[in-house]
Amino acid sequence: MSEQSINAVQQAVEQIKQAADAAEVAAANLATQGGAVEAASAWVESSYIVAAVLFILSLAGLSKQETAQQGIYAGIAGMLVALSATLLGDVANLGYILAAMLAGGLLGVRWANKVEMTAMPEMVAILNSFGGLAAVFIGYNSFIEHSIYDPILLGINNTLVFLGVFIGLVTFVGSLVAWAKLNGKVKSSALMLPHRHKLNLVALVATIVLLVNFVAAGNSASIWPLLFMSAIAIAFGVHLVMSIGGADMPVVVSMLNSYSGWAGAATGLLLGNDLLIVIGALVGSSGAILSYVMCKAMNRSFISVIAGGFGSDEGSVSAEAVEGEHREVDAEAVAEMLKNSKNVIITPGYGMAVAQAQYPVQEITDQLRKLGVNVRFGIHPVAGRLPGHMNVLLAEAKVPYDIVLEMDEINEDFAETCTVLVIGANDTVNPAATEPGSPIAGMPVLEVWNADNVVVFKRSMATGYAGVQNPLFFKENTQMLFGDAKESVSAIAKAIAA
Ligand code: TAP
Repeated sequence: MSEQSINAVQQAVEQIKQAADAAEVAAANLATQGGAVEAASAWVESSYIVAAVLFILSLAGLSKQETAQQGIYAGIAGMLVALSATLLGDVANLGYILAAMLAGGLLGVRWANKVEMTAMPEMVAILNSFGGLAAVFIGYNSFIEHSIYDPILLGINNTLVFLGVFIGLVTFVGSLVAWAKLNGKVKSSALMLPHRHKLNLVALVATIVLLVNFVAAGNSASIWPLLFMSAIAIAFGVHLVMSIGGADMPVVVSMLNSYSGWAGAATGLLLGNDLLIVIGALVGSSGAILSYVMCKAMNRSFISVIAGGFGSDEGSVSAEAVEGEHREVDAEAVAEMLKNSKNVIITPGYGMAVAQAQYPVQEITDQLRKLGVNVRFGIHPVAGRLPGHMNVLLAEAKVPYDIVLEMDEINEDFAETCTVLVIGANDTVNPAATEPGSPIAGMPVLEVWNADNVVVFKRSMATGYAGVQNPLFFKENTQMLFGDAKESVSAIAKAIAA
């Protein structure tokens, strides 16, 4: 072998050695990077578990008035952990996400600071609608931009896309209609379309047929079934909420809240985000349980509400039919009546929230208790405009929890009660609910008319939220104290103190 050849071989060996060293370094780097990626994803997953536990603690806290505040703090902490873990994980376009979060956060804070307590349900309805709309966008995006070729995985993906878009649209549109009904832009009475049950059934069958076609088409699925289904979902969402009467709106709002949770869970499955699946399922199931509890409390069929007025029939008794003579009373006379009463029950309603009368109400409670009068509160499950509305107001004014009772705990005591103060409540104390054929028939109400004396605080003879006239106002033992509830109760407090 010539010297030249030997040099060439030596050079080649040297180059191979260098290449092997470089490969070793690269392999070591890759292993470190892989470890780092694995460590980061384990960190994100553990943070998700912490966040999920905090959300469960939040729900547990919110189930009781005494622990509600801790529940809120646990929820805030859970959301902070969830957001930080997501942002510190593997995300693209972090700048855009942060900008969107800042804009959304600022708008949210501004809006929440401005909103009146009485407008909270409207805000909840609008926030539900955003959840639904997000699910719709993510669903369409996952259909347009996916890289799944395995037929089974594609089938699962397309089913989730279809269901996510359907539930998301029903939630979005239904929540917008609920918002309009709650703030009076749309009439609160139920829309009773002819053949509405058949229409619902046709919509359901058409949706199932489209789903089967969409999924069976696999990789060649076109966007048309999705678009047709979207049109059906929009019509169904509008009908779902329009066909619910005013008094049943609370159940619909909590049902829509539940739907937004399930839409979120479907989105979590599409995005492969475990935390979103858990939170979606928590919101979905807790909303469904709340709706079920409310349906039971209001003697309504759960299925009717889910299916949009399915099985519900508008009453034959005219909402405005009641007429008669009512008697009026003034604050001084009510103060005297209260001082001479052994026991008093106060049943607050939406009007107390409007007037912000909870503070003078707490004041007269205190005054009367000092005079030895047994004062208690009777709270209807749907008094006000959101679940627990009255409890929150009374707690804010520092009324002791132990004298605030649920309807079931106090309803039988009215017959042995000297005086009942109905402060800004109407539908929740309406005896028309006991008449078959009334639009609120079957809804349990506070049976205040069984007491010796009833004083109703309101500004006029107008009907309540359900638009049903109230025969209570014309009963012999009822007296009306007209005017703003805060002014009336304050005047009574002044007269008691005098
Ligand atoms: P409503 O039936 O809405 O009656 C409230 C009464 O308060 C009205 O008759 C009104 O009469 C009076 N009022 C309003 N402002 C007042 C003021 N400043 N001073 C004195 N009175 C005032 O209330 P409710 O008994 O609490 O029943 C709640 C209704 O809302 C139910 O039909 C329920 O289904 C529905 N709803 C509830 C929820 C939840 S979750 N709680 C959500 C949505 C809807 P005047 O105008 O004559 O003063």
